[in-house]
Order: sequence, then C-alpha cells, then structure tokens
Amino acid sequence: MAFGPTVALDDVALTVERGQVHALLGENGSGKSTLIKILAGYHRPDPGGRVLVAGRALSFGNPVNAASLGCRFVHQDLGLVDTLSVAENLFLTSGFPARWGTIRWARLLRAARDDLARVGLDLDPRQPVAGLSPAVRTGLAVARALRPGAGNVALLVLDEPTATLPDDEVRQLLATVRAAAATGAGVLYVTHHLDEVFDIADVATVLRDGRVVASSAVPDLTRTRLVNQLLGSELDEAHASSQALPPPRANAVLRVHDLAAGQLRSLSLQVRAGELVGIAGLTGSGRESALAAVFGAVHPEGGDVLVDSTPLRPGHPRRAIDAGVAYLPADRKAHGGIMSLPAAANLTLPDLRALWRPPMLRLGAERVEARSWFSRLDVRPAGAVHLPLAALSGGNQQKVLLAKWLRCRPRVLLLDEPTQGVDIGAKAQIHQRIVAAADDGAAVVVSSADVDELVALCHRVVVLRGGHAVADLSGPALSVPAVNRAALAAER
Ligand SMILES: Nc1ncnc2c1ncn2[C@@H]1O[C@H](COP(=O)(O)OP(=O)(O)OP(=O)(O)O)[C@@H](O)[C@H]1O
Ligand SMILES: [Mg+2]
Repeated sequence: MAFGPTVALDDVALTVERGQVHALLGENGSGKSTLIKILAGYHRPDPGGRVLVAGRALSFGNPVNAASLGCRFVHQDLGLVDTLSVAENLFLTSGFPARWGTIRWARLLRAARDDLARVGLDLDPRQPVAGLSPAVRTGLAVARALRPGAGNVALLVLDEPTATLPDDEVRQLLATVRAAAATGAGVLYVTHHLDEVFDIADVATVLRDGRVVASSAVPDLTRTRLVNQLLGSELDEAHASSQALPPPRANAVLRVHDLAAGQLRSLSLQVRAGELVGIAGLTGSGRESALAAVFGAVHPEGGDVLVDSTPLRPGHPRRAIDAGVAYLPADRKAHGGIMSLPAAANLTLPDLRALWRPPMLRLGAERVEARSWFSRLDVRPAGAVHLPLAALSGGNQQKVLLAKWLRCRPRVLLLDEPTQGVDIGAKAQIHQRIVAAADDGAAVVVSSADVDELVALCHRVVVLRGGHAVADLSGPALSVPAVNRAALAAER
C-alpha cells in the first residue's frame, strides 16, 4: 500500500493466534497504523493481499464487515467524538438500543455504566467527552472496543493505547488486554514501550519502512535484540537518554502562585531561566490540568501567573503567547494541530512575523524554514512539509507540533507529554532539543505520565497529589522510586 511516493506497507505477512498477544513495533512512520487502518476497513490495500479472520476473508474498505467478523479497534487517535457524551461514544460503533425508533436512554445509561466498570472507569456516562483527560479517553475507547453487546471479539487491535497513561493505569490496561486474550481473542498491540512487550506479549513483530524485519517469540527475545531489530543498529539506550543538564540561571522567569483549575487545587512554582522542571502525579492529581491552567487555556478558579513581572490574564492564551509562553498540549488532535493544513503551515502558525511581508505571506520562505525544522527533528518523510498534518504518522505529528513551539524561541516552554507516541530513537532526540531550549534561556516545565522521562530530563520534579504539590525533588533526592512514592503516598 502506498501514499504517493511513500510505500507505507510492502508485502507484510503476520499471524495473530487466538488467545495470544501479538506486539507490533517499529519506528515512527514504519507502517503500523496503516496496517491497522487496512484491517479496520479505512484504507484499501493494493490488490493481491488478503486477510483472514477466524477463517473468513475480510472484505477490504468495509468497516462494517470488519466489525461483523469480530474485529475491534482502539485507534491511535482513539476515534472519540468530543461533542457527544461518554454514553453516546460507547454506542457509536455498535448502534444505540432502540425500540420503535426511539433510543432507550435509561437502558443505554445502565449498559454504559457496566461497560465503564469493566475497564475500571468510574465516570458519569452523561458527561461530554470534550473535558476528559487523555488517560480517561483511552479507557473509554477500550471500554467501547470490549462492549459485549457488539458481538464476540475475535481480534482486538490497540494502536499505542498507553502513550499518555501513567504507570498504574498502564498496569490496569495491560490486565484488561490480558483478560481479553484469555477469553480467546487474538490481540494485536502496537507500542513504543518495550517493557510492555515483555510484560504481555507472546510474539513481537517489528516493521521497518513498511516491511517485516523480524517476528519472534517473546521468550526468545532480549531487550537489546529487540532494540537492534527496531533501529537496525546498536543504540545504547541509557547513553541516548542521559545527558548533562546545563545549570539554570539565577533569575526566575515564571512565577505561579496558588493556581487552581479543575482537579488542581493549589500550585505555586517558580522556574528560572534555563531550568527544567517536571510535573509528576497520577491521573486525577491535577497534573493533567496544570500546564493548561498556567498557560491560560482553561479558566483558573484562582491564583496568578507572572512571566518576568508581567501578570498573564487567565483565559487569554494570546496574551500568554505575546509574553513569550509556548504550550504544547497533551491532546494533539483536539488542541494541538490543524490536521487538514500542511505541516509547514502548522509549524509557522504561532509566529508568522518573519514570514509576513504585507500584503503577502512568503510561502517559499515558510517551506524553507519548515524543511530546516523537519531535518532538525528528523521528521519523516524527510522534507515532506507540504503534506497535511493528518498524512504524517502519529510520532511525526508530535515532532512537528513540538518544533512549532521551539521555533518561537519561547521564554517559557510548557510541554504536556512531549514524547507521546515517538519511537525510542526519536525520544532521545526530542530530549536533546528540549535541553537545548533551556540552555538557550527558556524556563521549561514538562508534565508527563512517564516518570523515567521526567527524572532523565529535569533538574527538579514537583509531584502533585490531590491537587497539591506534595514533593519537590532535586539533586540526589530525585529518583524514579522517590517520585513514585510521593505520588502514591497516603492515597491508599
Ligand atoms: N493519508 C496519508 N497520506 C499520505 N501519507 C500517509 C497517509 N497516512 C500515512 N502516510 C504515510 O505512511 C507512512 C506510514 O505511516 P503510519 O501512520 O502507518 O506509521 P506508524 O508506524 O503508525 O508510525 P507512528 O509510530 O509514528 O504512529 C508514513 O510515511 C506516513 O507519512
Ligand atoms: Mg501510528
């Protein structure tokens, strides 16, 4: 299957056995989501290929057929409709319970509660999906895929379901996936997290440039072997992620005082120029709303944010941008990028000044600049700045959205889940770029569900619990177990 000059998949063959978890791995842009979209009936492959589900041939380009053969999907972008409620989203793909043309709401809500409970979600099914955190949205998409009313599940496919989930929720999701396999379904599981492969997978297949480069029984694999299959070369993972951080400067650039918004009850924080500060915390700790509140993307219920000595006006992100604040949100589809616009336009959107010669936008200059950012962050396909953002793979979209803010050389850089969905090689590259921005004088705050990432990347990590900062760890006190202890303590 090809998109213009890009061959996304080439002669791929794999078998997912009943009751087994089959991990599918590969660098950003290697073809994983394309394969899944073919199974789901979204893309039609070139003639010649075939797919059998429990012995029956899948008819390509036909989502209804895929569903009726028992295929269920949790897509990379989750496929939820923001303007609908939780319950409506649950029934979107399987049809609403109705009698004489009328939707039976009471029944629907009861069933929705059961579906949510099955994956451990305690959520009001009438709530709109728009306000939910990435972790809860993932849970909802999984609950929908496992709805019993939709018939037997023969094949469950999950495309990077854990990209923004904290550890404890990853464990819960893995347990749900294992349970689905135990009922006899085959599971195809896409991830960039190698630990998960060793945790739940029976078989691991690795794609590179649209081809299968290896398929191995997991008991026969080592981590190093798997990394070599992925990258086609030796990469010392530890070396790639650990680096000396430049020392922060003396002056505080960002001052946050007693900020409250959503689950965040009170956050006070000072970040110096050149300093990298991490925000850790479980889902519900306030971590997910912290940076949006600092930026002013959500209306805070109280508190102040100052950049240098200028107060930002809550609810006015434009003011924050003018004051030199950049914010990369966790949800790239809903808030991050404009999927239908070219990657180049997405890159230059927040600051067009250099490209603006009234009355014209210098599109040639825009492309040149976008190309240079593509090469700095190794966005693939290389130089394809004219492609709409939607045509880039998930990890490559993430790189474009990060580049868009790095390009503004912000005074304050707020990053929510900056490496979600990027492969292990690209993660180290992105970390280097973030450190370079700090070295350039930015005050950087990173919120991440990935504690390893925070500890590797930050001078200091603030841990939230119950909406409050309960620890501020740096120097020798900063370690993964210390952050986890602070995030969990007294919660049970
Ligand atoms: N609609 C499209 N139009 C053009 N090219 C596309 C389209 N969809 C995917 N591609 C290209 O196909 C290739 C494979 O993309 P795919 O999304 O399958 O990668 P992936 O393995 O899922 O990567 P990631 O880990 O980043 O999610 C990429 O080069 C991508 O840019
Ligand atoms: Mg993908």
